[in-house]
Amino acid sequence: MPIHLPPISRRQFLARSLTASAGLLLSPNLFAASRKVDENTWALFSDTHVAADPAHIARTVNMTANLKAVAKEVIDLPKRPAAVLISGDLAFNHGEKGDYENFTSLLAPLRKAQMPVHLALGNHDHRATFWDAVKHEKTITRPVVDREVAILRSPRANWFVLDSLDKTLSTPGLLGETQLAWLGKSLDGNADKPAIVVVHHNPDRGQNKGSLLDSKALLEIVRARKQVKALIFGHTHHWGIQQDESGIHMINLPPTAYPFDSTSPNGWVLAKLEKDGLGLELRALDKAHKEHGRVVDLKWRA
Ligand SMILES: [Fe+2]
Repeated sequence: MPIHLPPISRRQFLARSLTASAGLLLSPNLFAASRKVDENTWALFSDTHVAADPAHIARTVNMTANLKAVAKEVIDLPKRPAAVLISGDLAFNHGEKGDYENFTSLLAPLRKAQMPVHLALGNHDHRATFWDAVKHEKTITRPVVDREVAILRSPRANWFVLDSLDKTLSTPGLLGETQLAWLGKSLDGNADKPAIVVVHHNPDRGQNKGSLLDSKALLEIVRARKQVKALIFGHTHHWGIQQDESGIHMINLPPTAYPFDSTSPNGWVLAKLEKDGLGLELRALDKAHKEHGRVVDLKWRA
């Protein structure tokens, strides 16, 4: 089952446009598709919480409008990012079919602009319902049978996307022994480049019990492998970056939906891989937010 939604080809798009209206030949999406790609830049989203009803509002936020807005910001960048990665909690609350229908329709403009979209699942997703919603997409073989894991290779780093969805609507996450074993083996087999691990749940470093239940095992695996430079997650709806004692950067993405703390920003992060690190720029939805536009340059541990 796919967790990668590939770009919609220009030919497919052209055919759709011609059917709809000749005027659409001048669609901004076609201009977007012809932009140069920056193969080292990635657009990172998390916690989109899209509901079936596009008008649905939670905690004063219209999640559909927010995902639409962040997608447009990515499409409007002067250079096209290599990919978009969304680190889970795609659906509003318990992963309904309609949530995923609306969610995937909101990703179409990014895909038409020739960006692949890579997805992770969170505790508000439902794996079987998600798979059913995307069953018409091209399927790929999953390396871990009952979970959505992937290795995404890019020129300056390999991205390891994990699946920490344990039980829908149960707050903590769990990777499980099979997935952890796959991660260790896959990291060992791909040690030639810096590795970035992406997972929905935040690792528990003593702060709360609603995080990743097998954090200790995950941290042991990544800390011992020096090619792992960063761990990226969502779940807390709180933007933040820390470096742990082993030098791994812990990057907590903001939600595109609602922050739990009203002072935290919502939005997305533009990530640029350098030879020796990662540049992150927060793009808050509220352009007046003090964090909006802040750039952080992370250096990789030795
Ligand atoms: Fe969430």
